[in-house]
Amino acid sequence: MDIFLDILYIAAALSLAVAWWRRCFTASTTPASNSAPLPPGPTGWPVVGNLFQILLQRRPFMYIVGDFRRIYGPIFTLRMGQRTLVVVSSPDLIHEALVRKGPLFASRPPDSPIRLLFSSGKCSVNSAPYGPLWRSLRRNLVSEIVSPARVRSFAWIRSRAVKLHLDRLRASAAATAAVDLMPHCRLTICSILACICFGAEVPEDKVREMEEVLKDIMMMTTPKLPDFLPVLTPLFRRQLREARKLRRRQLDCLLPLVRARRVFVEEGGGGGPSPFKMVSPAGDAYVDSLFKLQPEGKSRRLSDEEIVTLVSEVLSAGTDTSATAIEWTMLHLVLDQRAQERVYGEVTAVAEQGKGITEEDVEKMGFLAAAVKETLRRHPPSHFVLSHAATRDTVLGGYKVPAAASVEFYTAWLTEDPEVWERPEEWRPERFMEGGDGWETDVTGTKGVRMMPFGVGRRICPAATLGMLHVQLLLANMVREFRWEAPPGEVPDPTETFAFTVVMKKSLKAAIFEREHSKDQLFTT
Ligand code: HEM
Repeated sequence: MDIFLDILYIAAALSLAVAWWRRCFTASTTPASNSAPLPPGPTGWPVVGNLFQILLQRRPFMYIVGDFRRIYGPIFTLRMGQRTLVVVSSPDLIHEALVRKGPLFASRPPDSPIRLLFSSGKCSVNSAPYGPLWRSLRRNLVSEIVSPARVRSFAWIRSRAVKLHLDRLRASAAATAAVDLMPHCRLTICSILACICFGAEVPEDKVREMEEVLKDIMMMTTPKLPDFLPVLTPLFRRQLREARKLRRRQLDCLLPLVRARRVFVEEGGGGGPSPFKMVSPAGDAYVDSLFKLQPEGKSRRLSDEEIVTLVSEVLSAGTDTSATAIEWTMLHLVLDQRAQERVYGEVTAVAEQGKGITEEDVEKMGFLAAAVKETLRRHPPSHFVLSHAATRDTVLGGYKVPAAASVEFYTAWLTEDPEVWERPEEWRPERFMEGGDGWETDVTGTKGVRMMPFGVGRRICPAATLGMLHVQLLLANMVREFRWEAPPGEVPDPTETFAFTVVMKKSLKAAIFEREHSKDQLFTT
């Protein structure tokens, strides 16, 4: 029966797709005299456009885009099945779109049914279309998680997590010759964010489970055939069933925490029995603000499932990006021992011996900040920002950008441009110190864009300062406690690959040696 339905469906879908393609193709190649043409791009095949020309290359999309850029210039069109992608890659056009015409390019394109399942129908900061719902969710996230007062108030969470992190590294070094850094960083950052979100002491195995589920969701939501050919969606019933199972797993993992916290808050922070130990007073956790939020654009409060979506967004947006930045920075500190010693010298000069490193200490570590910025330039965690969409048909660089198109900003190219950066392929933190070619680079891109690891404009990462703090704090602590070296006989391999963020193909393994001063030292805050 399934097969019969599929055949019937394919026939209907093909006729619809051909009709749709004829209409779109004719409309876009014969623009009305007063409207601009679409940006240039490779000639596509009927119906599927450039989709299979790209899929058959079996290379990460970011490299294919680099090749097209060389042929078609800084703005070009790809027809991916029923979707039109406009790819933008020059600093001027990115600045024009995201900063000068900010509100116009601040929306998000339509999502596939699978992505809609995980975003509760676009009820999250990153997925909501530009409008009242997005504004109120984003405002709430900023005031509850990343305002300077909130960041200060979570210092104890970071300090506890850093101590556990260093203990875990010590245990790992005692057990193996080379420490695998990435899983430790992911676990620590995810634990910090989970505690900020739930106000609870989340057990380590629970954090690992969250990480696992979130990783599976990322894989499940990477673009697939039905994203480009929505007419084929019904043929992918199995995928949708798998996605529903995964959503169930996500809810089973996170709903107990949401519910336990709700009871805790409703009881005024009282000490009734709870499956989780609550460590923040009622009102201090991110979910507490979501319980009472009635976002603009919704006529009711958020459901528990929507709250799970919003918390998952914080955990996934903040974990991989920061852990990736730490891993790349540490790779360079292992390869460049002189730079590592300079960071060590700076940390020991600024932070008080035997005490935890504070946020104020980190602010005084100019070379460490330069090393992290240089890493974000040389290895931006993502080569694109999230997909954008225009709020209405508009024009960019003399070309038409339809409201229905996905606008992809290819940002990695900016930092590879030898016209903008001296010897861009080199990792040199000094370029971000006074007098260097990166000194005074504004990563928020207000006046112009030279690098944009956090995006720019309306959709810029709302938690860039928190992300930088996590990265710098962990690096400062790890370099203060240990000397990091390549394992004997091994040279770390800086080849990159794509796994949601752009990570090291072979994750960093390092031999770590306790620094003299930290032996037997009690760590107090
Ligand atoms: C080093 C760490 C981080 C990096 C490199 C990073 C990078 C980015 C980038 C490139 C974007 C997309 C901007 C765009 O679409 O134009 C983004 C958006 C976002 N990030 Fe981050 N991020 C980091 C840490 C965090 C953390 C810790 C959180 C949460 C606490 C977070 C939450 C978000 C959210 C909610 C959005 C969506 C914003 C919107 O659509 O309005 N990020 N981030």
